[in-house]
Amino acid sequence: MIYYFTGTGNSMAAADFFALRMGEERRDMAEALKKKECSCCIGENETLGLVFPVYYWGLPTVVVNFLSRLRLSGRTPYIWAVITCGSGIGAADRQLKAVAGRSGLYINAVFSLVMPDNFVPMFHAPEEEKVQEILKKADVRMEEILTSLQKREVGEESGMKDLMLSASMQTLYRNGRKTEKFRVDSSCVGCGLCGQICPVNAIRIEDGRPVWKKEQCALCMGCLNRCPAQAIQYGKRSAKNGRYVHPVLRKG
Ligand SMILES: Cc1cc2nc3c(=O)[nH]c(=O)nc-3n(C[C@H](O)[C@H](O)[C@H](O)COP(=O)(O)O)c2cc1C
Ligand code: SF4
Ligand code: SF4
Repeated sequence: MIYYFTGTGNSMAAADFFALRMGEERRDMAEALKKKECSCCIGENETLGLVFPVYYWGLPTVVVNFLSRLRLSGRTPYIWAVITCGSGIGAADRQLKAVAGRSGLYINAVFSLVMPDNFVPMFHAPEEEKVQEILKKADVRMEEILTSLQKREVGEESGMKDLMLSASMQTLYRNGRKTEKFRVDSSCVGCGLCGQICPVNAIRIEDGRPVWKKEQCALCMGCLNRCPAQAIQYGKRSAKNGRYVHPVLRKG
């Protein structure tokens, strides 16, 4: 069984790859939380995979919530994680092991997977040529990870030891999750997509426009990057930084 979380498709595409090649089923963590279906029976030869993006060197809130509710039955599986990132996972491996440990889960292996960076409030989205180059390298990396998973290897360590720095990154994440930082401009066409895809139901469509109904969200950047009109902005830079969506979630 592979559980994944995604904002812009990178982790979903990676979960698809591992599910197909390992013959495992895959499920969306956010959907599992919404439906309160966080129990899983592990069958013979099945592993438990977790595939999700790093946020501020740590775990997305959805992953923390999911792991605190996950209940396993059946066999004790080999548990592995692939953490997608724009450049590096920071201390996310350490946080994952701690959070999973509180639910009685032992993480056997963690791997990092560099994919295009979707944090456009801070960085310019990569141009299409660069996206293809990064995704090609990610394909090679996924084959390497697959080989390690088939051998049930123990993965890698990020080596991040600076707990002060990683704690201050978590404070930045907490502040960044304030939905008052989002705004919608006049190019909104009222399609409702942002409301449908929000993993934490933070957006409601009222009079054809999104309204952020929760004070905090997961900051997945799905609404902002996937809006067909690029009408959603966050902070000062997002209007100039372009948008990124993995091909798996592009329409056409
Ligand atoms: C809120 C936020 C924080 C992020 N922090 C990091 C980070 O600390 N390091 C990094 O390399 N990438 C960071 N990224 C980039 C994502 O981890 C990366 O693009 C990921 O593959 C996106 O996965 P997804 O398409 O499945 O949502 C961040 C993205 C977001 C939205
Ligand atoms: S996805 Fe964009 S265009 Fe569609 S309702 Fe949301 S803000 Fe408006
Ligand atoms: S409001 Fe937007 S950025 Fe926040 S969790 Fe929902 S879709 Fe993601």
